[in-house]
Amino acid sequence: MNIKHDSRPIGIFDSGVGGLTVLKELIRTFPNEHFIYLGDTARVPYGAKSARTVERYTIQVADFLIRHNVKGLIAACNTASALGLGALRAHCDTPVLGVIQPGCQQAMNRIRSHNDQVGVIGTTSTIASGAYPQTLATFEPRLKVRSLACPLFVPLVDEGWIDHPATRLIVEENLAPFIENPVDVLILGCTHYPVLKPVIAKIIGSKTKLIDSAEAVADSLAVLLSQVILPAPSDTRQKVDFYVTDVADRFKHLAGRFLDGYRVDNVEMVDL
Ligand code: DGL
Repeated sequence: MNIKHDSRPIGIFDSGVGGLTVLKELIRTFPNEHFIYLGDTARVPYGAKSARTVERYTIQVADFLIRHNVKGLIAACNTASALGLGALRAHCDTPVLGVIQPGCQQAMNRIRSHNDQVGVIGTTSTIASGAYPQTLATFEPRLKVRSLACPLFVPLVDEGWIDHPATRLIVEENLAPFIENPVDVLILGCTHYPVLKPVIAKIIGSKTKLIDSAEAVADSLAVLLSQVILPAPSDTRQKVDFYVTDVADRFKHLAGRFLDGYRVDNVEMVDL
């Protein structure tokens, strides 16, 4: 093996299609890397499950990717990052990135002072875990963080109801606390939510900055590739392999929408 390069793939996983919002940014940023995406579509959603179950699922999906000889792992799911990352890091030697630390870093970059109001929205389990306020407190303990679970946003995105009157109504109803009492920065703490960004932005108003962690994850991967794992040779062509645990056709259909037209030719169904 060339000591400056490592052609092995990078594994990226989510409970389903949400992680594709992160993959989209990685495809844009890393033209030479080989990515393997696994969506656990048989067991989605993770967002209302217990820590014990999410830990078990996270380790199973990661083990599938590790068997594919990945050089690094990205948990492109907030729920898995909030509830399963500790167990995963204890389970394997492969370097692991989650989405919460990069998302909080991105939020901190947009905050003017500790007096700024920060909001976090996510799945029921992510919000209940307290992972966001805890991580933000490691940057600035004086920050006031208001968290809100928005579990209905995930099925709306899965159904492709992006610019639909019902979606606008549900978003408005759910985000009422942040409309009545606005925050300066709102973290989209679920990988499905960036798909609803235009609707959320319109309803929440232009004074609130929306934080989508996908870009920040790409920055963290760049750091990982320069400090911990080696990048693929610069003459390698990018490649993405897609795997799901159920209904591959539906995933393929949604993936086109999430990846803004990126061609998803082959989606293989696997048992974990
Ligand atoms: N992708 C998941 C997340 O970011 C949301 C979907 C689910 O509940 O599994 O939390």
